[in-house]
Amino acid sequence: MKISDLVSDDAAYVSRKAWTDQRVYELEKKGIFAKAWLFLGHESQIKNPGDFVQAYMCETPIILARGEDRKIYASINSCSHRGLPVCRADHGNTKRFLCPYHNWSYRVDGSLVAIPQEKLLTNKPDKSVLGLKAVPRVESWRGMIFGCFDESVQSLDSYLGDMRFYLDAFFERFDNGIEFIGAPHRWTINANWKLPMENQLGDVNHGPFLHSAVIPAEANEEIFSVGWSAVPEPGHGATFRLMPEGTDNAHVAWGMEGMGAILGGAEIQEYLFEIQAKAAERVGNIRSRMKGLTYGVYPNLSFLWSNTSFKVSHPRGPNKVEYWSWAVVPADAPDAIKKILRTNYSSFFGPGGILEQEDSEAWMQQYLGSNIDFADDKPYFYGLGLGEEKPHPDLPGMLSVTANEYYARAFFSRWRSALEAVNDSRELIASSKQVSADDI
Ligand code: FES
Ligand SMILES: [Fe+2]
Repeated sequence: MKISDLVSDDAAYVSRKAWTDQRVYELEKKGIFAKAWLFLGHESQIKNPGDFVQAYMCETPIILARGEDRKIYASINSCSHRGLPVCRADHGNTKRFLCPYHNWSYRVDGSLVAIPQEKLLTNKPDKSVLGLKAVPRVESWRGMIFGCFDESVQSLDSYLGDMRFYLDAFFERFDNGIEFIGAPHRWTINANWKLPMENQLGDVNHGPFLHSAVIPAEANEEIFSVGWSAVPEPGHGATFRLMPEGTDNAHVAWGMEGMGAILGGAEIQEYLFEIQAKAAERVGNIRSRMKGLTYGVYPNLSFLWSNTSFKVSHPRGPNKVEYWSWAVVPADAPDAIKKILRTNYSSFFGPGGILEQEDSEAWMQQYLGSNIDFADDKPYFYGLGLGEEKPHPDLPGMLSVTANEYYARAFFSRWRSALEAVNDSRELIASSKQVSADDI
């Protein structure tokens, strides 16, 4: 089988193997996760020297930390001596990580401080080259920290490109930006990592059906009538409602109006209106009328504007994903508002959230459907709205109605090219089975 057999040239068909094949997964590691900017965390999580949080880049465990020099460091959490994780806590503040096996100790920036055994030895090892393996590129944008294993990757700014225009429609509404509150929710789903991603790149089409009990009919009507799907560049995506000029604040505020009313009543409404009143000044007329839905940043970061949550879909093989999910709030909002927003997030999109449970079930069923026998010659149809996407005079990228699946075709075209770029023969190469920690 060739890689080109996985995704048709127009990306209107995607093979079931793209979702289930171990060889495809290995190519994804080389072609995507070794080369793309991957989300690590937010600066608000590591404000002070010595602060650290755990993160992952695909399956590789990372320590993200603020060094004594206040700079941000990302290191692989694996001792240079025999590979044990040197940091066991999910987050905290420390001066040193102490490996439990032979007690080599490391600064939070990853440099090696001491080898207890060396006092008994004459030839002292060169500690300056024995630090933790550093992630070679670490950059931030609007407080969002990303890392990349490819030293020659383009800057984070240019990687995000015009996606920044859409992200700023949210970020730039607040005087002091946003902050992540608390540790992430983390849970595993028996699904392929790409489906949660595809879902949030632009699949608002399932809302009225899968979530029929939760999403009010008026909200769906609004999405049909003024909803847009934007692809600033292939692999990134943003969906939003663009409310007509003159829409009153109550109907444009932040994309959270209904849920805010349910959970927070007048207090949250008032706060949202206040933000909305200044929105045009801060983000310009057109973006002030955007009421966001879902966003995706290639390859595996998503943002649910309407529930203020960032999520990363960490692969754990082709058949499992570890989902990390943070509540996000405006940094200078009063505590009571932050609390309401957090409750709003966890009620809908935390691991026990009403919508999240419905989505997770769909994603699991999709994996099973992709893995059934005798159906390999029946690829999935991604052709809805094929060729109907077009540029917009005021918005960057390609735009379409939300029913158009261009967001997914664009993702899979980029995905196919990324896999082909690391496999000269363009054939899927068999390899020995990998054993994951869960198999032991
Ligand atoms: S494995 Fe870490 S000190 Fe030996
Ligand atoms: Fe959903």
